[in-house]
Amino acid sequence: MFNLEKITRENIKKAKPYSSARDEYKGEARIFLDANENALGSVIEGNFNRYPDPYQENVKLKLAKIKKVSIENIFLGNGSDEAIDLLFRAFCEPNIDNVILLPPTYGMYQVAAQINDIQVIEVPLLSNFEIDLDNVFNVINSFTKLIFICSPNNPSGNQIEEDIILKILENFNGIVVVDEAYIDFAEKPSVLSLMSKYANLVVLQTFSKAWGMAALRVGMAFASVDIIQIINKIKPPYNINSVSQDKISLALDKFPNFEKSVSETKKQRLFLASELEKIEFIDKIYPSDANFILVSVKNASKIYDFLANNGIIVRNRSKMPNCDSCLRITVGTELENAELIKILNQYVG
Ligand SMILES: Cc1ncc(COP(=O)(O)O)c(C=O)c1O
Repeated sequence: MFNLEKITRENIKKAKPYSSARDEYKGEARIFLDANENALGSVIEGNFNRYPDPYQENVKLKLAKIKKVSIENIFLGNGSDEAIDLLFRAFCEPNIDNVILLPPTYGMYQVAAQINDIQVIEVPLLSNFEIDLDNVFNVINSFTKLIFICSPNNPSGNQIEEDIILKILENFNGIVVVDEAYIDFAEKPSVLSLMSKYANLVVLQTFSKAWGMAALRVGMAFASVDIIQIINKIKPPYNINSVSQDKISLALDKFPNFEKSVSETKKQRLFLASELEKIEFIDKIYPSDANFILVSVKNASKIYDFLANNGIIVRNRSKMPNCDSCLRITVGTELENAELIKILNQYVG
C-alpha cells in the first residue's frame, strides 16, 4: 500500500517552511511596509518592486478550469525541472534511497538524482521504446521512492500505454512520476484523470512546449493535495516571478491560439516525416507523439556536422540506449522544415 507519510523524508516532515511577508498578510492593505521592498518603485518602467504571489493563485484558477482539477492539486515550478528536483528532495534520502529511470529518456532525472545523491536504477526501454515491465518489477526494492515515466518519451517520441502506467501505479508503493511535457502533441489523452484514483501519481506538464513559453520557465505538477502540500512546503517562497505569472495568465486566456499552434506543429510533423521518409540515408523514422522526430541515419555524427555547417542544429542522441546513430529533430516552422529537407538532400554520404 502506498503510504505518503512513510515515504516522506523525516527532515521534510519536521521542516518548518519559510513564512514570507505575503504568507502572513493576504488582505487588501493601503500601505505595505512588511517586506522590505522598494516603496519608490522600480528603476525602469513597470511595477516590479513588489514580491510576486508565492502560490500563483491567478494562474492556478485559470489552469484548474482548463485541466479540470482543483487548485489544491496544482504546483507551479520554475520549469518542470524545479518540480523534478523538489520530488527528489521531498522523498529521497541521499545515499540511501533509489529511483528507477527508463533510458533513453529526459536527462534531467539523472542530473537531479546525482545532485541529490540518489542512486539510479536504470531499466532500459525495449527496442520499440516500450517499458520492460518485468524488469521494472524485478529491480524495485524497499528503498525505491520514485519511477520516472516520460510520456511521450524524449527522445523516442512515443506515448506510453495507459495500461502499462496503471500496472506500475497499482503495484509500486512509491511515487510514479509521469512527465507529460509533450502531451499536447499526442494522440491519446493525458493520464491526469487517473490522479483522483491514484494517490501515488504525479503528472508533470510544462508551458515550455505546446504553449510556446519556454523563456518564462513555468512547469506544472499535478498530484494529490497531500503531495502538493509537501512540495509547496519546501519550494523557494517566490519561485515564479511576476512577469512569468502575468504572461502565463494572459496565455491561458488564449486557448484558441494554443490549439492553433498545436495543430500547426502536428501538420508540420506529418510533412517532416513524409519528406524524411524519401531520404535514402535515413533508415528509420520513429513515430512521434511529440514536437520532434527521432530518426536513425547511416552516420549520425557526419550528418550532424553537415547540418551544423549549414546552420541547422539538431540533437545527436546516438550515445543513448537503443538510439544507435539517431538524430532528434525538433519540428520547426514550415520554412525551417523545408530548408532542413533541402539541405539534407544536398548531403552526399
Ligand atoms: C520530458 C521533458 N520534461 C521536462 C522538460 C523541461 O521542461 P521545463 O522547461 O518546464 O523545465 C523537457 C525539456 O526538454 C523535457 O523534454
